[in-house]
Amino acid sequence: MHKVVWDMDPGIDDALALILALKSPEIQVLGITTVAGNAPVKMTSANARRVLEYLNAESIPVAMGASHPLNHSLEDALSYHGPDGLGNCDLPPPKLLLYPAKAWDFLVRLVWDAPGEVTLVATGPLTNVAYAFELHPELPGLLARLVLMGGAYGLTGYGKGNQTPYAEFNIWQDPEAAHIVFNSGADIFAVGLDVTMDPAACLNRQHLERVKTRHTPAAHLVAQLVEYEVKYHGCCRMHDPLALAVLLDASLFDYILARVEVVKGNDWDRGVTRILLSNSSRLIHVASAVDGPRFLKLFLSRILEE
Ligand code: RIB
Ligand code: CA
Repeated sequence: MHKVVWDMDPGIDDALALILALKSPEIQVLGITTVAGNAPVKMTSANARRVLEYLNAESIPVAMGASHPLNHSLEDALSYHGPDGLGNCDLPPPKLLLYPAKAWDFLVRLVWDAPGEVTLVATGPLTNVAYAFELHPELPGLLARLVLMGGAYGLTGYGKGNQTPYAEFNIWQDPEAAHIVFNSGADIFAVGLDVTMDPAACLNRQHLERVKTRHTPAAHLVAQLVEYEVKYHGCCRMHDPLALAVLLDASLFDYILARVEVVKGNDWDRGVTRILLSNSSRLIHVASAVDGPRFLKLFLSRILEE
């Protein structure tokens, strides 16, 4: 069982990853924190609660976090995820109230309550995580590990940027936060575009038709989310579900151990994640390959079951 605290910016693929987690007995989601990224933070906070309520998981608390990156204004991705950030799905607005704490304070509280036992999953810009680490420098060492979706490391032909030709969205959005997190000493597993942009790891129209044959709430919601991406983007990229899959079956991935430099500021190379071949400390695990078909088989088996 993995005890998970999850910082996210739902977003279609964050929502797909959350549904996967809720359908996976290996994962216990202790709490969710939300950050500005794919959508403004009030919208990502509403979307996390919309999904939880729909799947009867409203006991999982949601705490709202940063409304913009540390040193930049927000550049959202609603043009990709739809006006509501969730592919215009038919989920009603949330009834659930937000947990009465700032995200970074909530993150700290959950980790402190179970030192060494909690895995932090981060599938949005790293603003909240950086705040938590800056407030409590001992926090990275109290995590079981940190699994994050972010970066483009040039380890495969897919490892190019998606926000700029060189940088991945989460890291580009808040490179200063990513620099803090990547140098925090946490045991980091980074899943970047090198593996998430592999076409073998993306859902297509045929997968969608299979999901449509199931009439459970989870399958119904997955079908809506995937339909939107297939309709407007040709396939459904599984960036965040792949990050979660590190906890479900680590054998799906190959990794390299490396130091990663994050380019800060706002020039052409903002958010570039550069592998530094050094034997220094602050090494992180970077996913260098994924078994895409086996990942999709795992995802669909969880979503299609009762
Ligand atoms: O670059 C893809 C990442 O940015 C995903 O986590 C997506 O949800 C957005 O946050
Ligand atoms: Ca995300």
